Amino acid sequence: MDRKQSTKTKSGLAAGLKNSLAYLKTFADDKGVAAVMPSSRYLVERTLRAMDIKHAKKIIEYGAAAGVMTRKILEQMPKDGKLLSIELNDDFYGRLKSLKSDPRMSLYHGDVRRIDSIAEQYDFPMGDVDVIVSGIPFAFLSGEGRAQLLTKTSALLKPGGRFVAYQVTTHLMPILKNHFRAVKTQFEIRNIPPHFVFTAFK
Ligand SMILES: C[S@@+](CC[C@H](N)C(=O)[O-])C[C@H]1O[C@@H](n2cnc3c(N)ncnc32)[C@H](O)[C@@H]1O
Repeated sequence: MDRKQSTKTKSGLAAGLKNSLAYLKTFADDKGVAAVMPSSRYLVERTLRAMDIKHAKKIIEYGAAAGVMTRKILEQMPKDGKLLSIELNDDFYGRLKSLKSDPRMSLYHGDVRRIDSIAEQYDFPMGDVDVIVSGIPFAFLSGEGRAQLLTKTSALLKPGGRFVAYQVTTHLMPILKNHFRAVKTQFEIRNIPPHFVFTAFK
């Protein structure tokens, strides 16, 4: 490795460390963030495959956080696709704003529990969405809150559409089976902490 490459590698590592520390600080201030670090590239890649990202023209993302998943979605989704990302935390929302320069991207600051009215506002009609991807901690919602959100999620998807949720525990699995035709479960160990990836088909 020459000096130029080594300097580039060091500055990449420093930027990665700075981002991880900023993420950790946001987690310390807001337990709703639910993860101590952004998703690893292995979890991101597994989730994008579960989304069948190359064919997903209309996508909604619940809980974009620092935008690690969001950036990769924008990189791999169709050129004529549309993405609506939703984030509740003020710090993360502020940091995500730079991604709005991509004309395919809309960003909403608020609570996904209102997804029906948010989707309407951004012209994502009911029954017309290819994929909804979620990193929000479903375990933090009440039983009724979870059921209502999954009902709205399923109503937004087109027949054959997918809901992809990456979660630390399996508690969502039986509930998904009540709202979707079929559910596939995968596990990604190369993430802190390891995550399950559920793909639920409408
Ligand atoms: C585990 S993080 C998501 C990880 C992130 N997508 C990544 O790949 O690194 C969960 C995110 O969901 C957000 N969140 C939690 N509850 C939410 C809600 N009800 N509405 C919108 N965002 C929510 C949190 O603020 C946090 O940024």
